[in-house]
Amino acid sequence: MRAIDIRNKYLEFFEEHGHKIIPSAPLIPENDPSVLFTTAGMQPLVPYLLGQKHPKGTRLTDFQKCVRTNDIDEVGDNRHLTYFEMLGNWSLGDYFKEESIKMSFDFLTKCLGIPVEKLFVTCFAGDEDCSKDTVSENTWKEVGIPEDHIFFFGKEENWWIAGEEGPCGPDTEMFYDTGKSKCSEKCDPHCDCGKYVEIWNNVFMEFFKDKNGYTKLKQKNVDTGLGLERMTMLLQGKSTPFDTELFLPIMTKLENLQKIDSIESRRIVAEHLRSSIMIISDGGRPSNVDRGYVLRRLIRRMVRHMNKLQIDLDNLPNLIELNIDTLKEMYPELDKNREVIKQVILEEKNKFIKTLSNGEKEFIKQIDKLKEKNLDKISGDIVFKLYDTYGFPPEVTKDLADENNMKVDMQEFKKLFEEHQEKSRAGSEQKFKGGLAEQNEKTIAYHTATHLLNAALKQVIGKDSHQRGSNITVDRMRFDFNCDHKLTDEEKNKIEELVNKWIKEGIPVTKEEMKKEDAIASGAECMFIEKYPDIVTVYSIGNISKELCGGPHVNNTNELGRFKIKKEEASSSGVRRIKAVLINE
Ligand code: SER
Repeated sequence: MRAIDIRNKYLEFFEEHGHKIIPSAPLIPENDPSVLFTTAGMQPLVPYLLGQKHPKGTRLTDFQKCVRTNDIDEVGDNRHLTYFEMLGNWSLGDYFKEESIKMSFDFLTKCLGIPVEKLFVTCFAGDEDCSKDTVSENTWKEVGIPEDHIFFFGKEENWWIAGEEGPCGPDTEMFYDTGKSKCSEKCDPHCDCGKYVEIWNNVFMEFFKDKNGYTKLKQKNVDTGLGLERMTMLLQGKSTPFDTELFLPIMTKLENLQKIDSIESRRIVAEHLRSSIMIISDGGRPSNVDRGYVLRRLIRRMVRHMNKLQIDLDNLPNLIELNIDTLKEMYPELDKNREVIKQVILEEKNKFIKTLSNGEKEFIKQIDKLKEKNLDKISGDIVFKLYDTYGFPPEVTKDLADENNMKVDMQEFKKLFEEHQEKSRAGSEQKFKGGLAEQNEKTIAYHTATHLLNAALKQVIGKDSHQRGSNITVDRMRFDFNCDHKLTDEEKNKIEELVNKWIKEGIPVTKEEMKKEDAIASGAECMFIEKYPDIVTVYSIGNISKELCGGPHVNNTNELGRFKIKKEEASSSGVRRIKAVLINE
């Protein structure tokens, strides 16, 4: 069975069981600057797990594009991936443990044909926060899982939460027995030896965790996640995802092109290329901070490993094409974004080549100095300077040092690097506050202008256009919104005209406090419902706009000046960005 067939079977199965299919959210979270990438199917659904009504109901299913980068350095072994697809189904206060487990069991055994004896499961053992999960245990027994295939673990293994705070709960995990022999007496489903492979995780989200501990959520939810690449590999009897149709064409091509053989490097090239393509297609661009830096690292690491394999970099355009062709049936958007994907990767490759050559010159200078002094150790400081000033990757410094019989203080480098990361993280958190930290006449005016722009977009491109983000400085405003097309000149003119008409009309801006439910019921627009307290402030501009918002705003639209759109561009998949200014005349 191919990956796409497994995906289709999954969605069909859950649709037959009353679930509505929802589209994958983009890899770049739409309105959550706190995370770099979408890492799980539940992530875009957090507001609904917390109790907001989902327009499609209480049973949902989807495939979700995910990127997890904490294991980036492990890629190259037989299982780690930075990009993967997660199939998921959700109950938002609808069914709970029993029904969820029975559906999972039926899907695995009936739709995928996995023999019961191949299945092992784990359940939550219980602790002071939550009792032992005997409901899951009994349901597994009822469907036919033998007692000696059921294991219990504590929070470490059988409790799921995204990060430190948020909706969470005990989970039950399903494992596939590959048939290998046990590595030791103690070998169990959570052993890393490869005998058991985790295939599905059903989280029973009835808790919320914050700094003060656990509280019960308003509703009992189910959140499940099944890793598509792994399932594909197991059903095809392969021992790595790189042996499935998702990677084989590119792996074979790399093998034909390489002059030096390294399975590890081939996997890194294939994996990082796939991740980069997916991230760029969803709007990611290389940079030196946050998600841009992750993408930069993926592309640069891929280039380094092409060099290791001694594959001419002129092959890169063809490799990108081949990869897109392999994936486009699953992700048709790749075909549409083909040119931009190629352009971004090739530009980054060219920058990197320059960096490598400048960095190498500096490296040689530095080691000549050390050699003169008869020293054979490169300090972390030098590694950091090469990285920070020349963009020279520390791994490359290490490789070159080895070639020159020099030692490197990577420990010290790591320390310096972490300090640097911490600083840039703090910097970008500031940035995400949208510039409103710095409030003055100008930023306040821009803030009111974002509300007018939001309202104008709804009139010109449609009611379904919503705000996805904004950023304000004293010089300009930036506004992201969902929209499936590039705005035409006519649309842009209409938007400008509307906003300017409202400004000229001199409409008062009013503020009232009300209960969150009442505000939503009255049709007030709101971007992150879960982030607001029970009593909220609602700003209205006549009957043109009504939004939940912390303010501040001008008192009357006639304080704004003339509104002018400077630029309209793609922000990420399905999201456009307008940059605009207010001109004082
Ligand atoms: N959120 C859980 C996970 O990522 C189940 O989908 O494993």
